[in-house]
Amino acid sequence: MKGFEHPHIVTPPPGEKTKAWIERMKKVEAPNITYRDNEFPVFIKSAFMNNVWDVDGNRYVDLTSFFGVALLGHRHPEIQKAIQSASIYHGMGDVHPTPHKVELLEKINKLIGGNYMGIFAQSGSEAVETCLKTQLLYTKKPGIIVFEGAYHGLGLGALNLTSRKFFKEGLEVYLSIPVYELPFPGDNNKSYHVLELAENLLKKQKIGLIFLEPIQGRGGVRIFPDFFLREIRFLAGKYNALLGFDEIFTGVFRTGFFSYAQSKGVAFDLITFGKGLSSQFPLSVCMGKKHIMEKAWPESNGEAKHTYTFLGHPLFSLVALKVIETVEKQQIDTKIQTKGKEYLKTLLQLKMHPSVLDVRGRGFMIGIEFKHNVFPLVKKLLQHGYITLPAGKEGRVLEIIPPSCIEDDLFFRFLEVLHGIIE
Ligand SMILES: Cc1ncc(COP(=O)(O)O)c(C=O)c1O
Repeated sequence: MKGFEHPHIVTPPPGEKTKAWIERMKKVEAPNITYRDNEFPVFIKSAFMNNVWDVDGNRYVDLTSFFGVALLGHRHPEIQKAIQSASIYHGMGDVHPTPHKVELLEKINKLIGGNYMGIFAQSGSEAVETCLKTQLLYTKKPGIIVFEGAYHGLGLGALNLTSRKFFKEGLEVYLSIPVYELPFPGDNNKSYHVLELAENLLKKQKIGLIFLEPIQGRGGVRIFPDFFLREIRFLAGKYNALLGFDEIFTGVFRTGFFSYAQSKGVAFDLITFGKGLSSQFPLSVCMGKKHIMEKAWPESNGEAKHTYTFLGHPLFSLVALKVIETVEKQQIDTKIQTKGKEYLKTLLQLKMHPSVLDVRGRGFMIGIEFKHNVFPLVKKLLQHGYITLPAGKEGRVLEIIPPSCIEDDLFFRFLEVLHGIIE
């Protein structure tokens, strides 16, 4: 069935048409944006559910959901219907709003337990930056604790919190937020040490926010221990700092739950969602406890203190409502939980292989950590018709982030191919 087919490579990627597009791109796009070499990338023409077609007629299976975004699959029929039913595309979200924005905020608020208010944005970076503004306006304490390996986006505000130096080189003078980066807590002994470091900072510095991805996405699917999340929650409360979770990646059912932190029973003051929220359209949100939002953002006297041209986009809000409705109606969250466990269990067998260091994940967010950089493997997989991504500081983690419509047949065939290559 279209959208659920195995790869079909008619011309080894990158084919001639892709190569021609790469040459055209080289003339007009700044060089350090789209990576290219003799084997990478391919130019994409269309996508439907699990499948992606390039301009040379090759059919791929997408195991990335295109950065974890196409939660339901590409161009899901329900989303197409929602788009066709829209009576307005763009609006004036902060002046003359549309009902969809309110309905979506109501829905998200309900899903995360109630008593939250939100501010929409478009990208993940912007939602993170809205958290930063909120926290400073509320706590008046500028300091922020983050963790090694964090990726919170590359906008000039969010970049302060992102770990990798590479992204910051040459821009340091613009990055002046007092950010304190702590090591990533691993086993229990290390966790205690990191908690001690956090407590020292909370005592000595003006820390307003502790901010983290409960599972680091671009950091290589690194999972914060449950116990650490509970302890850091306790410390934040003890020192009147806010605890914020960046669930741009983990949120909106990627792990089988609307919020991963909530599924662990850890309360948060601020939280961000993006990526899968409107499954393929740029929509993100910063949600904060009602009392925090009311104090940080007092009633406007006519001019909004914070906005974006596209804030509360009616079409994207409508799509997001449809995404959530589809997940709920078709119990896709349960499928992700169950299938995610099954896939992880099978993938764990790869640990027997001498080049594999670890396999870990939750739901449909799985990382296979190798001893070496996986970019050559990603390119090999592309030759076989599978789209995957490298992650982690040294690019040693192969990320498997399939759309929720993935079927066993497609997944297990991919595993066979992966096995064959790494053997
Ligand atoms: C956890 C997290 N936060 C923030 C971002 C930044 O999102 P965007 O690229 O939409 O600005 C990302 C992107 O990968 C992310 O994974």
